[in-house]
Amino acid sequence: MIKRNFTIAIITLTLVIGSILVANNIDLLPETASLNAPIYDELFKVLFIIGLILFLGIFGLIIFSLIKFRRRPGQYGDGIDLEGNITLEIFWTVIPSIIILFIGLYSYDIYDRMGGMQSLSHDHHMSNGSEKIWAGISPSNSTINNSISQLPIEVTALQFAFLFDYPEGDITTGELHVPINREIVLRMQSKDVIHAFWVPAFRIKQDIIPGQPTVLSFTPTKLGTYSIICAELCGPYHGGMRASVVVQEPKEYEKWFENNKKVDL
Ligand code: CUA
Repeated sequence: MIKRNFTIAIITLTLVIGSILVANNIDLLPETASLNAPIYDELFKVLFIIGLILFLGIFGLIIFSLIKFRRRPGQYGDGIDLEGNITLEIFWTVIPSIIILFIGLYSYDIYDRMGGMQSLSHDHHMSNGSEKIWAGISPSNSTINNSISQLPIEVTALQFAFLFDYPEGDITTGELHVPINREIVLRMQSKDVIHAFWVPAFRIKQDIIPGQPTVLSFTPTKLGTYSIICAELCGPYHGGMRASVVVQEPKEYEKWFENNKKVDL
């Protein structure tokens, strides 16, 4: 009995340590290109470890049982009559409850750190008067009084494209250009059906809902071109509803802005 418990303890420990090692050494996520990304990745890693322990543990046990308890030659009778096991039932109720509760609280904390729990009602310069923002991630409070550092961009989603408007330069473009390390505030509206603005490299996603403007703030931290993908089934060409976001050095961005802004003749 003691020997068996010892074996189980060793296997469990190996499983836990092995899963942590695997999670720390494989990279399943796209590039990490915004301030939000490392926060999100922390949650992903924890969920991945828990998932891997359960997956390997359960499948290991199934395969072990298939071999160990298989029918031997000459066995034709019924199996032994098992009826309930209170200890086991308490165990498999309490442990998953603790895990689920932990995941719930931890996810809340991560979403809060990404800025998702901030009030959406501040009257920043993006809101046209008192128009209600229905959902999203608001700009951070630290820069709310210093709106110079934030870059407001209007996003219009329609079947099947994203359009970006830069109110300051009267620019309309299908390719989003943003300067690195500056907070971008996207104010998003849909012309027709529900779309979703998703940039995997930034780890952000927000629905764009007709009649209910949403906001999405993020700070890009890595130069490059990243995919913007519509993540809400919005019609026959939903799969082709993609755009790009180009993260540039502030100087390069200014150059692009100057070359594209409308000049009054
Ligand atoms: Cu727009 Cu899917």
